[in-house]
Amino acid sequence: MLRVGYPAVLSAGLLNGFPEGVELVPLRDGLDHEVEIDVWIPDPYPARAMRIWPHLRGVRLVLSLMAGTEWIPGTVGPHVTICNGRGAHNISTAEWTLSAILAMLKHFPFFMEVQQSGEWKRRFEASASYARITGDKRALYPPVMVEELTGKRVLLVGYGSIGQEIERMLAPFGVELVRVARSARTEPLVHAVSELDGLLPQAEIVILILPATAESRGLIGARRLALMRQGTLLVNASRGPIVQTDALVEALQSGRIRAALDVTEPEPLPLGHPLWSCPNLLLTPHVAGSSPQFAARSLRTAAGELCRFMTGEPLQNVVQAAI
Ligand SMILES: NC(=O)c1ccc[n+]([C@@H]2O[C@H](COP(=O)([O-])OP(=O)(O)OC[C@H]3O[C@@H](n4cnc5c(N)ncnc54)[C@H](OP(=O)(O)O)[C@@H]3O)[C@@H](O)[C@H]2O)c1
Repeated sequence: MLRVGYPAVLSAGLLNGFPEGVELVPLRDGLDHEVEIDVWIPDPYPARAMRIWPHLRGVRLVLSLMAGTEWIPGTVGPHVTICNGRGAHNISTAEWTLSAILAMLKHFPFFMEVQQSGEWKRRFEASASYARITGDKRALYPPVMVEELTGKRVLLVGYGSIGQEIERMLAPFGVELVRVARSARTEPLVHAVSELDGLLPQAEIVILILPATAESRGLIGARRLALMRQGTLLVNASRGPIVQTDALVEALQSGRIRAALDVTEPEPLPLGHPLWSCPNLLLTPHVAGSSPQFAARSLRTAAGELCRFMTGEPLQNVVQAAI
C-alpha cells in the first residue's frame, strides 16, 4: 500500500479518482505527532503546509495542487521529487486575466464608484480619465466612456500552460499578440525574454504569467516600466516579486501606466500599503486560481501522477527531480 497524506480539509469525495493500492492519510492542521507517508499532497496554503511538514516521515514524492511551488524545494529539500498541479489553474487564471483586462478597459472600477454615488452625470469623468491615462488629447465626440480590447497590441510574458489558455481566450478579440518565454522558438513565434526591452514600447497591454524564480524576480522594474507607452495596462496574475513594488507604485502614482494585479509583493499586502490606494489600479487579493472547479481538476492531475508513480512510468509535471 502506498500511503498518501492529504489535507484533511479536502472533502473525501474529491479523492474518489485515486488508484487502488493507495491508503489515504488525512493530515489535520495542528498535527502534533509523526506520520509515515510515501506521498504528500500539501495544503494549498504554504503556511499551513509548512506546519505539517516537520511531522512527516518517509516522503518520496510531493504532489502540489498548485502551479506555483516556489516554497516547496526549500522546505522538503533535494531528496524528494516535486510535481506541480500544472493545468489545474488554467481556466480560472486565464478567465481572471480576461476579466481584469476588460474591467480596466471598460473603466468598471470607476463606474462602481459612480454607481455608489448615484450620480449619472459623473459618467463624463470617464472621458477625462481616458485622456489623462492614455495621453489621447483629441477632442473626441461622442465622449469616450469605455475602451475596446479588439485590435489591441498585447505582450504575453510567459507562454506556458496558463499563457496558452490566455491566448485561446483572447483569440475572439482579434488582438495582435506577441509571445515571450525564457527561450525563443517558432510555430508559433515566441520571443526570448532577452528581447523584452525591444518589445515593451509597442505593447498596449502587458500580461505577466510566468513563475517566480531567481531570474524572473524584479523582471519589471523602474527601467522597464519607463519603456512602456503612456497608459499601458500591466496585468500580473503570476507572482508579486516579478514586479518591483516601489517602482510600480511610482509609475501608478505619476499616472504613467495602469495595472491589474492579483498578486503583490509583499503578500498579504498590509493595511495602509501605498498600493491599496494607487490610482488606475484594480487589485484582487491572490484569488485568480481559486474557483469551485479547481480542487477536483487539480486532484485529477494528482491521481494521474500517482498512477504513473505506482507503475513506474515517467511523471508529467516534475518541477524538482529527487537527487
Ligand atoms: N494568481 C494565481 O492565482 C495563479 C494561479 C496559478 C498560477 N499562477 C502563477 O502563474 C505561473 C505560470 O503558470 P503556468 O502553469 O503557465 O506555468 P508553466 O506552464 O510552467 O509556464 C511558465 C512559462 O513562463 C516562462 N518563463 C519562465 N521563466 C521565465 C523568465 N525568467 N522570463 C520569461 N519567461 C519565463 C516559461 O518559458 P519556457 O516556455 O521557455 O520554459 C513558460 O513559458 C505559476 O508559476 C504561478 O506562479 C498564479
